[in-house]
Amino acid sequence: KKLTVQESFVGSIDQGTTSTRFLIFNKEGEPVASHQIEFGQFYPNPGWHEHDPVEIIKSIESCIEGAVEAFEIQGHSAKAIKAVGITSQRETTVVWDADTGEPLHNAIVWTDTRTQALVRRLKTRLGADKLQDLCGLPLSTYPSVAKLLWLIENVPKVSEAYERGKLSFGTIDAWVVYNLNGGPKKNVFVTDSTNASRTMFMNIHTLQYDEQLLDFFRIDRKKLQLPEITRSSHPTAYGTLTTGVLSGVPITGCLGDQSAALVGQKGFSPGRAKNTYGTGCFLLYHVGDKPVISKHGLLTTVAYDFDGTPQYALEGSIAVAGSSVKFLQNNLNFIESSKEISQLAETVPDSGGCVFVTAFSGLFAPYWIDDALGTIFGITHYTQKGHIARATLEATCFQTKAILDSMQKDSGKALAELAVDGGMTNSDLCMQTQADLIGIPVERPRMLETTALGAAIAAGFAVGVWESFDELKNINTADMTTFVPKIDAAERDQRFGKWEKAVQMCKGWV
Ligand code: G3P
Repeated sequence: KKLTVQESFVGSIDQGTTSTRFLIFNKEGEPVASHQIEFGQFYPNPGWHEHDPVEIIKSIESCIEGAVEAFEIQGHSAKAIKAVGITSQRETTVVWDADTGEPLHNAIVWTDTRTQALVRRLKTRLGADKLQDLCGLPLSTYPSVAKLLWLIENVPKVSEAYERGKLSFGTIDAWVVYNLNGGPKKNVFVTDSTNASRTMFMNIHTLQYDEQLLDFFRIDRKKLQLPEITRSSHPTAYGTLTTGVLSGVPITGCLGDQSAALVGQKGFSPGRAKNTYGTGCFLLYHVGDKPVISKHGLLTTVAYDFDGTPQYALEGSIAVAGSSVKFLQNNLNFIESSKEISQLAETVPDSGGCVFVTAFSGLFAPYWIDDALGTIFGITHYTQKGHIARATLEATCFQTKAILDSMQKDSGKALAELAVDGGMTNSDLCMQTQADLIGIPVERPRMLETTALGAAIAAGFAVGVWESFDELKNINTADMTTFVPKIDAAERDQRFGKWEKAVQMCKGWV
């Protein structure tokens, strides 16, 4: 059968915390083919969370094969795919031998809290209070830096490579780009500023590695190989795929997944915001081309940099969202698949007095309580699974409300509506709860793969598939669902007050 190459398509690798996907988008921003694979989650000790870096690369290769096969069945030729973009989970830390490309340990995932004691030690160092002004992030277990320091301190193979000057460190994007380019042979070792802004090594103002930050963490720059920081959209810096059905196709886009979702939601102007309910939940608010350093528990991050004029966002990061639904499924056997969570929650009219603080990785924004533990309050003989299911969904909604309050304090502006995406937004009940608790409408687009779309946009811009933001304005605008708040301010305050009390009561157990 003759396959056609008349249209231009862009591929997108979406390497998330629990699964890898490859999607192929047409110029209208519609995914025409996709493939998804879940990969191993390793929890070797309480609070520890690891991934196998080699398995991650294999999952990407399989997803590309699967999606391209489906694409060709539709009559398209793989040659019509002009470029590939990469978006990935951020902060997750990979270390490998610079000569051989061999990983020296499992990747330490962004959710991992093994560095709690190390972070407390770092907080007592002179200058700790200046870090956020330099890099935009509060010192916590979340960014890459403490994970890397832990590996150097605790894993002999890692410290030996460091002493030899052969330790390569990267977030997942850098590891993926390096491997898809064939590893040490070509040694394409780059990252983009949205990913680098999550390490604590990058100066948020200059978008370059910062000596003051490296000195604070006592990192010897001569011993550590760091990827070069470049723009999120670039025609050549990220190299090309070297094996498989797309061998030779250039990689031209690279974005941290939350930045990609903002791009996919077309958050191109200051004042636009999006909230992505994935494994965790992340609210990004576009603040323009100057970074705003938060005074109320938020992070400053690079939103995207397509043309050398970086755009910034204020971010509220919630460690646990979809992963709490997975917890009900895998650990408590409440449901057989995530999709059933809504149905279970609908068996009861409310949470029956239960509040579930899903602090499985401590609490992130805006609280930053590292010793908070997951706690369910209000259980009685009356409590059913449905109540706990509701309380689980509400936990993410309450944290989103706390983040929006902080955002308003930092930016001086109130958001008019909240654009959402990600798996958990499939639950109408969850989105209605969200609207009720924040008191503004919640807008859900029809196509929820906005993260993958964002990486495709970054890649497509670099090769001329799209040339201006204006061309994107009609993408994914039809059939939006709007959830309008249905409770009054008094009820909202009363429920949120209970949540805040629960937050204060779930810390200090260890
Ligand atoms: O900062 C972590 C974030 O990038 C992970 O995203 O979609 O896997 O929850 P997600």
